[in-house]
Amino acid sequence: MRYAVFSDIHSNLEGLQAVLEEADRLGVDALLCCGDVIGYSADPVACVDLVRERGVRCIRGNHERGLADLDDRHLPNMNPLALEALRFTYETLPESYREWLVSLPDKLQVDGSFFAFHGSPSDPDEYIFDSFEAAYAFKSLTMEYPPPANLLCCIGHTHVCAAYAFDTESRRVEETAVRDGDRFAIKPGAHYMFNVGSCGQYRGGTPAATFAVLDLDEMYVEFRFLPYDLASTQRKILAAGLPSLLARRLSVGQ
Ligand SMILES: [Fe+2]
Repeated sequence: MRYAVFSDIHSNLEGLQAVLEEADRLGVDALLCCGDVIGYSADPVACVDLVRERGVRCIRGNHERGLADLDDRHLPNMNPLALEALRFTYETLPESYREWLVSLPDKLQVDGSFFAFHGSPSDPDEYIFDSFEAAYAFKSLTMEYPPPANLLCCIGHTHVCAAYAFDTESRRVEETAVRDGDRFAIKPGAHYMFNVGSCGQYRGGTPAATFAVLDLDEMYVEFRFLPYDLASTQRKILAAGLPSLLARRLSVGQ
């Protein structure tokens, strides 16, 4: 079984299309999104339509939780730029679309084989940015799913690709920065967490749409960084009246 795993689409239709085209070219068996289908860019309706048409299995990110907060008349816990885009998203999406997004699960155990989380295993809002934060997440996961279970997790939220391997004896985490084409072997009995980056607003310094192929037959994860038509995404962000910084940051991958 081969999965294309991506995250943080953030209403960027061109980034999502680039990832789906590459996933189709590779002939993967299933599609998975680790949350944040919406927010930041101008195409929330088209992105939700495409995700649902293509049968992408999805979990709820902090931006989908933000829609629920607005429903409940609570102020979502996010920065002013994100909040302005979320209000645009809320007003643009039909109610049935918002209901679908809010109803997504916070985490998934996919086909009994691996986990999908948005931020951390315990909280979609929590960032895993380094080996210390990853080690904490692994320790809580090994309490919940004790060895000999092989823990394999895919996450998003930071919008930066990364690979973390947990050594069960030293209880330390080895972190590896990820570039386009990098492949990581999944060794039996070992524990891994892979951040698949973002197909809509990558922040690792590259204007790319990223995703990972998870191959459970050959047991590896391989990362892809794709160019996409970001000029169109930027034009639509500006035409929608969203903050210009949301367009400009796409050019520099921040
Ligand atoms: Fe996000």
